[in-house]
Amino acid sequence: MATLTFHGHSTFSIETDDGTRMVVDPWFTESPVADISAEELGDLDYIFCTHGHQDHIADAFPLAKRTGATLVSTFEIVMFAGEEGIENAHPMHIGGGFDFPFGRVQMTPALHGGQVHGDESGRWTTVPGGFLFHLDGTRLYHAGDTALLYDMKLLEGRVDVALLPIGDNFTMGPDEAVRAIDFIRPGIVVPMHYDTFDLIRQDTADFTRKVGDRAKVEVMKPGDTLQL
Ligand code: NI
Ligand code: MN
Repeated sequence: MATLTFHGHSTFSIETDDGTRMVVDPWFTESPVADISAEELGDLDYIFCTHGHQDHIADAFPLAKRTGATLVSTFEIVMFAGEEGIENAHPMHIGGGFDFPFGRVQMTPALHGGQVHGDESGRWTTVPGGFLFHLDGTRLYHAGDTALLYDMKLLEGRVDVALLPIGDNFTMGPDEAVRAIDFIRPGIVVPMHYDTFDLIRQDTADFTRKVGDRAKVEVMKPGDTLQL
């Protein structure tokens, strides 16, 4: 049974039964809401980045350099990481899956901006995505930053735990997230990408009411863990 820990915004760390440690969308150093520093995260085996925006990737390259963890992201972000001295990386792309030693991971579509933080040349603009993880028998979907997509309907019956943005303004808001839940039909929903700063303030009690009996909403505070 894998353990999921929320670190604020869209940053989660995961530890699987076999001891594999990973982080998704690492943003610690400049995050107003992170519960720990990137150093306090300790050792890592994998770093997953859904897209290139600062609030999803800012700590990824320093973490990769410190820990030697494998960076997993779109082909373009991995190419840019190579230019920045990251040797241990695994390129993927939307729709593709790969059987990692700890389980299968598939990249899912997202509709959002493709800029890559730190890429002064502007050559590595990419397509944002999400990840569908198969971990110790649980299917975990990290949607990344995205609008509501009808493509989410393709995930129906394939997700146990869905990490969905509800912040509005930059991503789908609470009402669209409820529609996403209607498409995906996960058992558990964890809201993310809200309350980090004023533009994305949300009322999670109101969101939970709107979801109703569609799914169980687990509102995680930075530092909270969830057994998957
Ligand atoms: Ni973004
Ligand atoms: Mn974001």
